[in-house]
Amino acid sequence: MKICCIGAGYVGGPTMAMIATKCPDIDVTVVDINAERIAAWNSEALPIFEKGLDELVIAARGQNLFFSTNVDQSIDEADIVFISVNTPTKTYGTGAGKASDLKYIELCARKIAEVSTTDKIVVEKSTLPVRTASTIKRILKNCPSEAQFEVLSNPEFLAEGTAIKDLQEPDRVLIGGDQTPEGLAAIQTLFDIYARWVSPDRILTTNVWSSELSKLTANAFLAQRISSINAISALCEATEANVDEVARAVGSDSRIGPKFLKSSVGFGGSCFQKDVLNLVYLCEHYGLTEVAQYWEQVILMNNYQRKRFVQRMVTTLFNTVAGKKIAVLGFAFKKDTNDTRESAAIYICRDLLDEQAEIHIYDPKVSHKQICADLGIPEGHPGVHIHSSASDACANAHAVAVLTEWDEFTELDFQSIFDNMLKPSFIFDGRNILDLEALRKIGFETHAVGKV
Ligand code: UDX
Ligand code: ADP
Repeated sequence: MKICCIGAGYVGGPTMAMIATKCPDIDVTVVDINAERIAAWNSEALPIFEKGLDELVIAARGQNLFFSTNVDQSIDEADIVFISVNTPTKTYGTGAGKASDLKYIELCARKIAEVSTTDKIVVEKSTLPVRTASTIKRILKNCPSEAQFEVLSNPEFLAEGTAIKDLQEPDRVLIGGDQTPEGLAAIQTLFDIYARWVSPDRILTTNVWSSELSKLTANAFLAQRISSINAISALCEATEANVDEVARAVGSDSRIGPKFLKSSVGFGGSCFQKDVLNLVYLCEHYGLTEVAQYWEQVILMNNYQRKRFVQRMVTTLFNTVAGKKIAVLGFAFKKDTNDTRESAAIYICRDLLDEQAEIHIYDPKVSHKQICADLGIPEGHPGVHIHSSASDACANAHAVAVLTEWDEFTELDFQSIFDNMLKPSFIFDGRNILDLEALRKIGFETHAVGKV
């Protein structure tokens, strides 16, 4: 059996590395139109940082795992084609700012129709609005050859930073397909692949639409929990309650559970905002105004949380940060990834720049080039300096803001950081990871989310 995956990104790369590892008898080829990215997958320096990924890729690459720009040939040779391309929020035309931009998906479907000479199972891996499978099917019907296609939805639930563990031991695998004999056979083929390492009771099968909607709903629920605790963090700051204590007490209720209740500068990443907005757009499309408004609040609360953090910094720093040196620790949207998509740090740094602060950024994994691209500034911009260590970024700063929960930030030598900062020395913990009591003993004035 041969598998082709279109899209060598954060989802396609790790997922295919896992399938290749678990199924040595299956040839897996990951293709991408981005030649630079494919070259990186074939090099020592993989394009994405993910714990445990290097080992998997190095062991399987050249054996049964291949990275290639030869899209047409790989599709035609495959029995199963995964579509794992990006589906960003549309920035133009109808649905701009909310709907998913499906142009890359459509291009893939057209490409599959154009080059296929044999029957295939086409698997939607990218998160898609409900009923996208019908669009893909209609395009595939126009295949000039006699090839037949079955379209399945198999959304990926991995989280970045823990992708390999999530792929190795998923809570569940979801496969949606047509409830016809051909559809059920296709579901079974994909089921058998996952069943090589996932317990069958964790592999759920549904109709296509339920599968597509489940992915959007899962992300919306997770994002909603974060917005809920972040909403409470504002109330904690007003009432002298402590959001970590509230989250612990609330999360101890087994009906609620402790996960995804960590108050922060706001969620980021390529999925949550995009998927919730997509859900909002779908609800509006179906005339469900109240439902759309309900989910939109999750996003509005997240925007508010980022803004609130900057406002608190400005107010605390005597109502102005203009010309002041602010150290920003962490730029990735979460720890253990080099991904910055929708990172709260981008929004916070932009607001600080608008306030004319001089920002000094350190992140252990995000490149200088990426930070400048995200902030929309040229390298060498006078307001932004990027450092290769936290202590360099903090030297002579008025304030330090922790924006990503990298483990190394909890182990910094804060005494020496304090000694090298201007006084009074402020620290803003946007991730609630620091020992505030210890910092206060050193002499810092501390501020954290949801804590007075
Ligand atoms: C998410 C989903 O978890 C995953 O199932 C889906 O496949 C893709 O989207 P990801 O975006 O990689 O994964 O990371 P996740 O761990 O969910 O974190 C998203 C954002 O929420 C990060 O910015 C993180 O810092 C933030 N977060 C998470 C919080 O602020 N508080 C929490 O308690 C948890
Ligand atoms: P994700 O996080 O969903 O994996 P990424 O942006 O990291 O998203 O990866 C998507 C990949 O899909 C990119 O490397 C992009 O170049 C690739 N891609 C987009 N459209 C096509 C296409 N038509 N053919 C092949 N690859 C594509």
